[in-house]
Amino acid sequence: MAIPSIQVIVLAAGKSTRFNTQTTKLLERLCGQEMILYPTSVLTALDIPITLVVGHQADEIINTVKQRFDCSFIHQEEQRGTGHALSQTKDQWAAENILVLNGDMPLVTQEIINQLIQKHTQTDAAITFITAHNADPANMYGRIVKDGNMLKIVEAKDLTSDTHEQCCINAGIYLFKRSFLEKHMHQLACENAAQEYYITDLVKIASSNEYSIETITAPCNYIRGINTLKELWSAEQIKRSELISYWMSKGVRFALAQSTHLDVTVTIGAGSCIGAGVHLLNGTKIGNNCVIEPFSILDNARIGDNTTIHSHCVITDSVIERKGKVGPFARLRNDSILKENATIGNFVEVSRSTIGSESRAKHLTYLGDTTVGAQVNIGAGTITCNYNGFTKHRTSIHDKAFIGSNNTLVAPVVIGKESFTAAGSVITENVPDNALAIGRARQTNKEEYANKIKEGKKKHEGSPEVSFIAATQTHNDVTFSEE
Ligand code: UD1
Ligand code: CA
Repeated sequence: MAIPSIQVIVLAAGKSTRFNTQTTKLLERLCGQEMILYPTSVLTALDIPITLVVGHQADEIINTVKQRFDCSFIHQEEQRGTGHALSQTKDQWAAENILVLNGDMPLVTQEIINQLIQKHTQTDAAITFITAHNADPANMYGRIVKDGNMLKIVEAKDLTSDTHEQCCINAGIYLFKRSFLEKHMHQLACENAAQEYYITDLVKIASSNEYSIETITAPCNYIRGINTLKELWSAEQIKRSELISYWMSKGVRFALAQSTHLDVTVTIGAGSCIGAGVHLLNGTKIGNNCVIEPFSILDNARIGDNTTIHSHCVITDSVIERKGKVGPFARLRNDSILKENATIGNFVEVSRSTIGSESRAKHLTYLGDTTVGAQVNIGAGTITCNYNGFTKHRTSIHDKAFIGSNNTLVAPVVIGKESFTAAGSVITENVPDNALAIGRARQTNKEEYANKIKEGKKKHEGSPEVSFIAATQTHNDVTFSEE
């Protein structure tokens, strides 16, 4: 079959009134991608030149589409219906066949468009369009009505019969011969309930002028038009299920698939296991044989092979190399890198930092603007003070250093190779290689002081509140065994 001469007009100017959000529905996301990018990516893959009709929030739509695809744009200043939108593109018509597609059908596939083109080319029809069987179209969709030899599409709000009697619906995808459009476009009128120019009336015009009209039937799910937030939710469920089925076929285990959220841009390696309630977002790449435990959120994260992300972690714009161990309850963000075989444990936050291979920060720690070398141990409760209220400063901890528990590292500061810092230290000066740094208040022991406290307590017998205050004011750590 010769490749037919086709261009496509995508209708994307509407006000999205039924969304009730004031913003265009075409920029709402399904599985992380704006609705308008779904049909445009299908058409780009088919190599059909695209013109978008834009109006409501035109600039935002143009910006979003232009970043990904090579399209031209026509403005529809006033939104007077789908027929009016098509008529605005007249000067752009160059191909022999004009494909028209509603912009609000994110589940449309290349296969459906190919079948339409094939039928149109084989039959040489003036119009070929797509229909679907919808058992319960309620008050949505135009219905295909045959009246003797006449074929027409009647919008739900213009139907006079019971809306459930007509279950063959119009998908909103049409392939016209340009010559037909040029001759009959001007006959569109707006005599209907919405006072709009309907593209669908071109079917009635073709029928009454005895042009040949062909249809193909597509699965209802794939031509869903999205007019409300509820329909967006349903369509996203279908898309998400498709993505999960696809990754299952590639060897990924989903522990509770119906609770996992996945963006279209995510990739997952074979042998990996994704726990309940996990969100994988925004180009996240997971390697082979990883375990992502329940309720973790990975947003633009790169996870190397054989890594375990324990439950409730949030990893944003960061890289975990092979055999990493993270969490539970850890947060990595701002281009942080965890090198091979490193461990970030519970309640640890890492921001703008690199953690060297085989290094560990296992408990209750904040590492900000920090470079940690290899095989470093960072004790529980360590905090890097990277911000003085005005500017941020870096901390460098060199290979094999040992940071004692509850350290405060005041940046800018360098901790030398194989050095130690004592537990509870506030480190304000650089520590040389192989040194021990101690930066803490000395402990004093007051011999027999405990007896004084006990005497104090006896004086206040019968008034436990007073004795408790007396005791704690004297010494915070004293507890009374009899209480
Ligand atoms: C349309 C069809 C209906 C079909 C359904 C399929 C008409 C009159 N009706 O109804 O038969 O069953 O799609 O989903 O065409 N748009 C513009 N300019 C306008 C109006 C709309 O560009 O002036 C764009 C919208 O942004 C949208 C698309 O055209 O992307 C379809 O418009 P919409 O209002 O959603 O049409 P439906 O009522 O769903
Ligand atoms: Ca629609």
